[in-house]
Amino acid sequence: MRIDCISTISEALGQQMAGRTVIVIDALRATSTIAAALVSGASGVIPVETVAQARRIAEEGDLLAGERHCEKIPGFHLGNSPYEFSRDAVSGKRIVLTTTNGTRGIQKASQAATVLAGSFMNAAACAAAAIRLQRDVTLLCCGTRDVFALEDGLCAGLIVRELQSASKRPPELGDFAAAMAAAYSQCEAGLEEALLHSDSGIRLSSLGYKEDVTLCAGVNRFDAVPCLYGDEMKPF
Ligand code: MLT
Repeated sequence: MRIDCISTISEALGQQMAGRTVIVIDALRATSTIAAALVSGASGVIPVETVAQARRIAEEGDLLAGERHCEKIPGFHLGNSPYEFSRDAVSGKRIVLTTTNGTRGIQKASQAATVLAGSFMNAAACAAAAIRLQRDVTLLCCGTRDVFALEDGLCAGLIVRELQSASKRPPELGDFAAAMAAAYSQCEAGLEEALLHSDSGIRLSSLGYKEDVTLCAGVNRFDAVPCLYGDEMKPF
């Protein structure tokens, strides 16, 4: 198995993803939130790029969710905080989600053989799913508005480490994947602090979402691996 890592959505080329397992990472917060929604019993999450698309696609009984500038979109049922996606709120519901970077990253991975949503919260489960799929892996870090985001790189590094420890034969690593694994090892003991001091962590904390950062820093809390089937993410 070969593992490559892409630093931002704008760096992503179709050929780096075609025929591979692509794990899309927007650790703060979109891909963490999608995992939380499935853990809470949502029937599926449809990731879309724009607010207009979300409104058009949503059917009677669906929940509209998402953010712009990290805040809930006016008129939507839910924002993008994993805390909002409780069992009471989402069990049995289909969710149409639009976020600034995360859902755009999922759309960008459309040439992949399989698209998974990765986060700190489900890193080991994502690695196990990728190993079962037996293909080369591309970790797509969403970043923030086409700028690299530390939390996504560290999460990619964690997933590389999980893939290394769960693979029978040592995977071959691209340079950026190796660099992110080394960066994660450096920050592992103080992960929550590192996330709180990242640009996204500071922005979310300043908007009152510090607890989201802390929650999203919880390594391997979930077994759920969101996987794209058609246009909808459901458990792998
Ligand atoms: C995004 O998709 O850009 C993020 O998840 C933003 C956020 O944290 O709300």
